[in-house]
Amino acid sequence: MLILSVESSCDETAVALVEDGRKVLTDEIFSQVALHKLYGGVVPEIAARSHLEVVTLLADRALRTAGKTRAHIDAVACTYAPGLIGAVLVGVNFAKSAALALGVPLIPVHHIRGHIAANYLAYPELEPPFLCLAISGGNTMLVDVRDYTDMSILGQTRDDAAGECFDKSARVMGLGYPGGKPIDDLSKQGDDHAYDLPRPAVHGDNPFDMSFSGLKTAVVNIAHHAQQTDEALDKAGLAASLCRAVSESLVGRTMDAAKMLGCQNIAVAGGVAANSRIRADFEAACKEAGKTLFVPPLRLCGDNAAMIGAQGYYEYLAGHTAGADLNAYATMEL
Ligand code: KG4
Repeated sequence: MLILSVESSCDETAVALVEDGRKVLTDEIFSQVALHKLYGGVVPEIAARSHLEVVTLLADRALRTAGKTRAHIDAVACTYAPGLIGAVLVGVNFAKSAALALGVPLIPVHHIRGHIAANYLAYPELEPPFLCLAISGGNTMLVDVRDYTDMSILGQTRDDAAGECFDKSARVMGLGYPGGKPIDDLSKQGDDHAYDLPRPAVHGDNPFDMSFSGLKTAVVNIAHHAQQTDEALDKAGLAASLCRAVSESLVGRTMDAAKMLGCQNIAVAGGVAANSRIRADFEAACKEAGKTLFVPPLRLCGDNAAMIGAQGYYEYLAGHTAGADLNAYATMEL
């Protein structure tokens, strides 16, 4: 089954062609980073306008690259939530029009389910059940993936996402936007014990809930203090200490959850899964605990449409299709 899939929830427009949920024929991505860099973050209206300008071109290019025609498309899938509402609407309306014009099913896909499904593309042998830590710019959640379309959140951030913590820290350190990768790169030259950053504790019954706003504030305070007192800021040390703090917060909880569930397979997904410290710490922790780790290659960690095509296939098999009244949503339960 050939699915044309569309992703437009934030600052990447992407269109892919995916066969039977596992084989990517082509995955076209247009990154808007250059458009938003000037403003130090994503401007929702600019994002939506840019998606509109390129989505059709990307779809044409996807078909050309894969050597397919519109007649080969069996279904159209799109991210319908969560995301910047104007941005998601563009992808949803494009997908609706395409499905209607081609007379094929329309499949709505939850963006985070898509991130989780990136692992199916990277690891043909991976099947549910498994535990997945989904870490992106807008979401941080530990997900019990019981089946392809049956999953629940074990714990999540109470405030900022891990990616938000990296992005805001990078901004105050003058590293630009998006900040995760520059922090990751710089951290390799720094001492990860240079700064004593907090490991955020969360009140309440759920040991798997997380928090990153306190950590972000600690980094902001350190940077401002250095600025105000004219002290030199050890940026590499701060970057390394931040990566260590975020990683320890995520890896510890994930390993505890895996132990509680008694699950053998642990997956990581989302843009922040590209972080080298987090990847290395997960590898070490899983090796020690005798668990099997699945982490997508870097190109499948960030937003892309191939992951939407992968999850879309399983949503279709579960009968989750939509009509022309499909709407876009800024927030949505997993
Ligand atoms: O999954 P994604 O592309 O978009 C969302 O769905 O949100 O994630 C983007 C986030 C940004 O916060 C970005 O700074 C972060 O992923 N990121 C990283 C790295 N590469 C991207 N964070 C830490 N280390 C990285 N190497």
